[in-house]
Amino acid sequence: MEPLNAKSSSLFSFICLLLLASANAKLHEHEFVVQATPTKRLCSTHNAITVNGQYPGPTLEVNNGDTLIIKVTNKAQYNLTIHWHGVRQIRTGWADGPEFVTQCPIRPGESYTYRFTIQGQEGTLWWHAHSSWLRATVYGALIIRPREGEAYPFPKPKRESVVLLGEWWDANPIDVVREATRTGAAPNVSDAYTINGHPGDLYKCSSQDTVIVPIDSGETNLLRVINAALNQPLFFTVANHQLTVVGADASYLKPFTTKVIMLGPGQTTDVLITGDQPPSRYYMAARAYQSAQNAGFDNTTTTAILQYKSAPCPAKGASIKPVMPLLPAYNDTNTVTAFSRSFRSPRKVEVPTEIDDSLFYTLGLGLNNCPPNFGPSQCQGPNGTRFAASMNNVSFVLPNNISILQAHHHGIPGVFTTDFPANPPVKFDYTGNVSRSLWQPIQGTKAYKLKFGSRVQVVLQDTSIVTPENHPIHLHGYDFYIVAEGFGNFDPKKDTSKFNLVDPPLRNTVAVPVNGWAVIRFVADNPGVWIMHCHLDVHITWGLATVFVVENGFGALEAIESPPEDLPLC
Ligand code: C2O
Repeated sequence: MEPLNAKSSSLFSFICLLLLASANAKLHEHEFVVQATPTKRLCSTHNAITVNGQYPGPTLEVNNGDTLIIKVTNKAQYNLTIHWHGVRQIRTGWADGPEFVTQCPIRPGESYTYRFTIQGQEGTLWWHAHSSWLRATVYGALIIRPREGEAYPFPKPKRESVVLLGEWWDANPIDVVREATRTGAAPNVSDAYTINGHPGDLYKCSSQDTVIVPIDSGETNLLRVINAALNQPLFFTVANHQLTVVGADASYLKPFTTKVIMLGPGQTTDVLITGDQPPSRYYMAARAYQSAQNAGFDNTTTTAILQYKSAPCPAKGASIKPVMPLLPAYNDTNTVTAFSRSFRSPRKVEVPTEIDDSLFYTLGLGLNNCPPNFGPSQCQGPNGTRFAASMNNVSFVLPNNISILQAHHHGIPGVFTTDFPANPPVKFDYTGNVSRSLWQPIQGTKAYKLKFGSRVQVVLQDTSIVTPENHPIHLHGYDFYIVAEGFGNFDPKKDTSKFNLVDPPLRNTVAVPVNGWAVIRFVADNPGVWIMHCHLDVHITWGLATVFVVENGFGALEAIESPPEDLPLC
């Protein structure tokens, strides 16, 4: 054999390095079979739509840098897509999932395989159906640990538990939303909140399968809390224990300690909890944070039990009642504000300081006048109207025969327009007493176009139309910095000076303060079509959404990949 010359040996070592670097990035293949599964909660059984018969669905556990390949087969009777909430999907927008935005739905009997790689994200994300209200039962956790051989930026927890907060209807949730769409009224609220799919001890027929979260004296454990509820921001607390927040939305945070956390739907929060209390049983509990006025809401409380391993065994037949925590009042906005103001990135970060696209989006509810061809039974909103919602007065309408990404990629006209306004079409006192003439939005499939690499700022401004409300605004395909939040109308003259451009938190969902605003910044470095919407499903149903079309940059590495062969047809 010939001796290796210098050139080929350096090539050889380069290849070895490459192999080493990718050697510990793994491939995870899964099959998700979506099907109706009889599920008993609150004394009655419903045919819940599940993944592989599990509710909640399977937890996916990966390391940063790993690739997921998930074949989804739709054996249910509804159209379906799955979204990997918070995954950046760099150049793989075809795997993002929102129906009619990045793909046509998977029809009953069909399959589609989602392929994507986790790049530079660590912590807790989740996945859920992104079609109608199917995510009521079709959801699960996505745990991303550091690359193999790398550590958490905090002491390694002894145990890790997923705490998935959900919402349960004692009905078919698809019927609930269909009825609301027919009548124009607000949909029925849920009948229970759940932790890992179970309502817990405070509900009828539920105490046999209350979730137990184990802990041992002296150990510190990680709780990965996810708000997977459809329509309700939730407070979460654990009796007698402090929570140390270390991450949110798969980005680390400068640790801080609190008694209670609040998550809008879509948000995740990683907290450390230490077994420093007398060995016993303590409730962890979640209930509503309700900021909207004159609106019905589910005011029940879900619980699980934090149980010390060394807790004294209950005598046969008897059982020690777990300690119940105090929860904030339903409308305790002060607690929410104090909590969100504690968020910092762990260190100085690179926030864009020059802005190319400076956007101001109002968001809120509205009312549509009853169309002339509609009967009274179809206009059951306030004063014979139908509920609506909008951003910058545009109520978002999904296409129904092709996705926006396909239309953009293949240059198919007539599917969407790129005239989404950068500013509200009319300026008014957004959080004041708004004239009724401004309550009715227009409808459209309007996108805002961004050049590759554009530095973007969006002011998200709540309105008091119908009611002010805390809206969890979620952007697909990106994490963004939340540089400021406040109440009232955003005022560029006095509020810009309050921006945190040093260590703002990085998230994918911002809970925009009720009657207030939040300012987010990101660099549009991921080409594709990305929906930004309120994560209260009732508000998406009413149109509280918009899309960004991010153009390709130069060369293949700045362009979205080609569509997969099995992309569903409409
Ligand atoms: Cu978690 Cu568009 O969704």
